[in-house]
Amino acid sequence: MLKRKTPIVLPPGKFRMGGAHFKDDKAFIATAVNDVERLIDYCGLSATSALLDWGCGAGRLAVGVRERFGKIRDYHGVDVQPELITWADKNLAGPGFRFTLVDVSNERYNPDGSLERTVASEPGSVDVFYAYSVFSHMNDEDTPAYLELIAQALSPSGKAMVTCFVEEDVAAWEENPPGYGPLDWQGRLHCTRFARWHFEDHVNAARLAVDRFEYGRETDGQSLYVLRKR
Ligand SMILES: C[S@@+](CC[C@H](N)C(=O)[O-])C[C@H]1O[C@@H](n2cnc3c(N)ncnc32)[C@H](O)[C@@H]1O
Repeated sequence: MLKRKTPIVLPPGKFRMGGAHFKDDKAFIATAVNDVERLIDYCGLSATSALLDWGCGAGRLAVGVRERFGKIRDYHGVDVQPELITWADKNLAGPGFRFTLVDVSNERYNPDGSLERTVASEPGSVDVFYAYSVFSHMNDEDTPAYLELIAQALSPSGKAMVTCFVEEDVAAWEENPPGYGPLDWQGRLHCTRFARWHFEDHVNAARLAVDRFEYGRETDGQSLYVLRKR
């Protein structure tokens, strides 16, 4: 690990999504560094990568990247929530670290946003695409469309690590399934759950392939996928 001259700045509590996993500063940094380690192992992330953190929130992963690598060629955090991007831009942006606000629609986080979808990246430009707890709050029209945009954004050898709720033997897509998971889901798209076959149909339709699947070990019981271009 590189020695840092300045202390890491953390997003304030009100901007930290993900509940119990992020209960204090130490745990928050640990989750971020752990995800960076997995991006290294599963997706080949290195200090020379172009990394897109889609649905970056207040930049949790950026904190982990900085802690693990110090610098990176390009960390790009993208989100629909102005207050989070404004905070991240002010506190975490710098050489190799940038943030972009996209005013696109998500019924939970930005209901009045544009229906024209974007992940704010040039085709073929992203080595590693990260989307943690983003498909867990997404409708069943946006999901296949964004998987296509992920496929477009990835470089030929690029990989994407994403999390979502998937189960066997459930409806193809369901919003806030009662009695499922650790929380009492409230409001639009608090929890969106896919049947595994249905999510993987979307993956295939986007010309992506599943490189790795880990069931149920992520925040609130989400599963992890590593995807690559077909
Ligand atoms: C539960 S938070 C996860 C934040 C972050 N990935 C993390 O793990 O700390 C989901 C994030 O996805 C963002 N989001 C939802 N739909 C989006 C979209 N279409 N484009 C960009 N960001 C989106 C939300 O604004 C929110 O910040």
